[in-house]
Amino acid sequence: MTKATTDLAEWLQRYGLGQYAQAFAENHIEYAVLPDLTEDDLEKLGITLGHRKKLLRAIDTLRAAGQASGTTGREAEFRQITVMFCDLVGSTQLSQKLDPEDLQKLIDLYRGECSTAIRRYEGQVARYFGDGVMAFFGWPRAHEDDGVRAVHAALEIVSAVTKISGPVTLASRVGVCSGPVVVGEIGDSRTPWSMDAVGETPNIAARLQTLGAPNTVLISESTRRLVSAAFDFQDLGPQELKGVTEPLHVYCVLAAKYSTSRFEAAHAGPLTPLVGRSTELSLLLDRWQKVKEADGQVTLLSGIPGVGKSRLLHELKLRIQQEPHFLLHHQCSPYHSQSAFFPVIEQIEHAAQLAAREANADKFAKLKAYLPRSTDSSVEPVLLIANLLSIPTENHRELSELTPQQIKNRTISTLVDMLLAFSVQRPTLCIFEDVHWLDPSTLELLELIISRIDHARVLLIVSCRPEFRPTWTTHANMTVHSLTRLSHTEVTAMIRDLLRGESMPQQLLDQIIEKADGVPLFIEELTSSTLSAPPRTRGNFKRTAQPALLQGSGDAE
Ligand SMILES: Nc1ncnc2c1ncn2[C@@H]1O[C@H](COP(=O)(O)OP(=O)(O)OP(=O)(O)O)[C@@H](O)[C@H]1O
Ligand SMILES: [Mg+2]
Repeated sequence: MTKATTDLAEWLQRYGLGQYAQAFAENHIEYAVLPDLTEDDLEKLGITLGHRKKLLRAIDTLRAAGQASGTTGREAEFRQITVMFCDLVGSTQLSQKLDPEDLQKLIDLYRGECSTAIRRYEGQVARYFGDGVMAFFGWPRAHEDDGVRAVHAALEIVSAVTKISGPVTLASRVGVCSGPVVVGEIGDSRTPWSMDAVGETPNIAARLQTLGAPNTVLISESTRRLVSAAFDFQDLGPQELKGVTEPLHVYCVLAAKYSTSRFEAAHAGPLTPLVGRSTELSLLLDRWQKVKEADGQVTLLSGIPGVGKSRLLHELKLRIQQEPHFLLHHQCSPYHSQSAFFPVIEQIEHAAQLAAREANADKFAKLKAYLPRSTDSSVEPVLLIANLLSIPTENHRELSELTPQQIKNRTISTLVDMLLAFSVQRPTLCIFEDVHWLDPSTLELLELIISRIDHARVLLIVSCRPEFRPTWTTHANMTVHSLTRLSHTEVTAMIRDLLRGESMPQQLLDQIIEKADGVPLFIEELTSSTLSAPPRTRGNFKRTAQPALLQGSGDAE
């Protein structure tokens, strides 16, 4: 063993995780690599969920305390990023009220909530300053939606901090700003290192944070531009910020905008005319016909990113929109694959029209009105669902007598009862979209639905990318369909539709056909980037801006 791996083994030991030292050594993981480890990496190393969380926190602490003995891994670079600053409200008063140990415990819990939310959205905790936390979104790892990720994380922090239990209720404030910075790791093997960003962006984020009321997220104009489709805001107008010469336009984020699916969120405007897919649509309509005759059906729709799974579901919804039916559309989220029942909670909140800032009593009344009546459960279904949605109710005694496992089991069976009760009233289309991001609790729900809808008027459609491998494909009423790439003729037809009468040299057309490889998303991106290129570059495909999607591996994420 090298010195570095022995150090690491000792460090793991300190956190009670010494059993993983060998796995770290076998995979050549040294101190310098620690900041790069993701939760996925740790899972691959065979580390259990609880230990993964512990380890990720320990890595953050290590970085923040500047104890790492590695060298500067990344040189400073000029980047466009989103910086988040988060602070506890009233920490001076807290330090007067609480004894130092209790205060430290609370601060640790608060930091834990910050780092969990930041990691969930794949941001990077850069530094802790007492009870302040600075995080970067867009460095070292960049995503096309880093601004959106930062604001989601900020909202989660604000909400999670209020729920920390302790002698006092905590509140936080977050500021978010996007812009250019010089960012990198500072220090070397002899001096403590941490991450820093130089430029106006982090200063503005820090100043915005101080302007906000408790439990609010304030963002700059530059961030608002990046995230306007995803959130609702209150415009606070131009504000003077200390150390910033010009007044800056500031917005308070109210909530994330809800959309039934990722597809609908991304396609507010008109769609490209549908090309092909008549066989698939006939198949789905055939299953729908069977469902109307109480022959419950399950369809698994699998396909690579951008091949048209969501579009097909959209078309099916259009075809049956005039018929009386219920639609329960569950959208899984890449950010919430470990968040129990996330797609179900979102679906119910939306369908029952619950607003984030509504009074609990009003939410409860709306929920009651939305749920179908069911009598076969000892605990009121509405109580279980209210509990699922974290709506406090006056009479929770019935639930408090149950164990968490019993609550979970009863919640799952109540959800299936609800689905069946809906289907007694009308044929029901129940969609679970993008289940490659499904959380384990919703997966259990899905399995129970499949086992119970044989004779119900329910069409369950589950869509996924090919990496998802279900265990239940042998069920009698199950159809598995793999959505294939479009044919050459279909690709050509789609490009012609996109060109809307504009002409394109045959050579360029051939290049798009070849590059897009039958994937509609790539066809759209390539054709539109070619059209938006200045006319003189259009004849030369190589010189037009290529969509980011095609520059990498071809994965749409
Ligand atoms: N048959 C088609 N005809 C015309 N446009 C299509 C067709 N299929 C898909 N598209 C368009 O291609 C784009 C990508 O399709 P879609 O979002 O349905 O892919 P997806 O398989 O759901 O991808 P992901 O796995 O990322 O969710 C959309 O803009 C969609 O409207
Ligand atoms: Mg999709």
